[in-house]
Amino acid sequence: MNRKVSKAIFPVAGLGTRFLPATKSVPKEIMTLVDRPLIQYAIDEARAAGIEDFIFVTSRGKSALEDYFDLAPDLEASLEKAGKTELLEVLRNTNMDSGTIAYLRQHKALGLGHAVSCASKLIGDEAFAVILTDDVIAGEKPCLQQMIEAYQETGGAMVATMEVSPEQTSSYGVLDIADQNGPIVKAKGMVEKPAAGTAPSNLAVIGRYILTPQVLANLETVGRGAGGEIQLTDAIAEEIRAGRDVFGYRFDGQRYDCGSKAGFLQATVAFALARDELRDEFAEFLTQMHAVQQAAQ
Ligand code: G1P
Repeated sequence: MNRKVSKAIFPVAGLGTRFLPATKSVPKEIMTLVDRPLIQYAIDEARAAGIEDFIFVTSRGKSALEDYFDLAPDLEASLEKAGKTELLEVLRNTNMDSGTIAYLRQHKALGLGHAVSCASKLIGDEAFAVILTDDVIAGEKPCLQQMIEAYQETGGAMVATMEVSPEQTSSYGVLDIADQNGPIVKAKGMVEKPAAGTAPSNLAVIGRYILTPQVLANLETVGRGAGGEIQLTDAIAEEIRAGRDVFGYRFDGQRYDCGSKAGFLQATVAFALARDELRDEFAEFLTQMHAVQQAAQ
């Protein structure tokens, strides 16, 4: 069976209300960790994993996102003229070839599953990836690449997974575990945002998926689930019910929940400390801040 994964869907239609008022005019995917928008981290991860076609499911108010991926010839020319070759390189690395990006609109906010199903017609009969830009994952080998490699062995559908505390399971899709083999977890069920105390495990679904076209077909029939929305988790769980394989992959790397303010700030600190040109000055500042905090307590 062909196990090529060359297309990725980026559901970016969410309103980002948790970051109001910033998101009144700036899509949350354009918000930056140090100097790169969240969407750039997602794109870089996808590219590193061999993704060739990028499908954005957008909504009203997201045109800044389309502009971000447009070429900036005037800016490039002025950087070139000024001899700012490093910046020019940074800018050029964000360029995407014509024809590799598709934008389509989700007209109604009916949930993640619905957003993914909006891209059905662009998928065809190969497996595809889904990347949620809120989940930023730092690691030596990009998370999606780890998963695509594992998927070459397993086939089926695969979700990224990690352990969360029992109090947090109600914020996630959660796996019911059949068995485990190293980082690969075979699922016998999956439930979206289980009520407190009812989660089948504490292995949460994190926003990286490798899915088959059959999951798109399932989305047509699953109906509304948790929160009254059409849930991707339900369409994947349907695969298990139909007797097909679904795996969780315990990725190597640090995940930041950039859909929450605390997670976004943690990622900002971590990414700043990872930058050679910022590390010393920023670390010193953090130490001072910490001392001030301690003294005030
Ligand atoms: C979505 C998915 C959920 C998953 C989570 C990971 O939820 O529906 O299954 O665990 O992303 O970040 P959301 O965070 O959009 O509510």
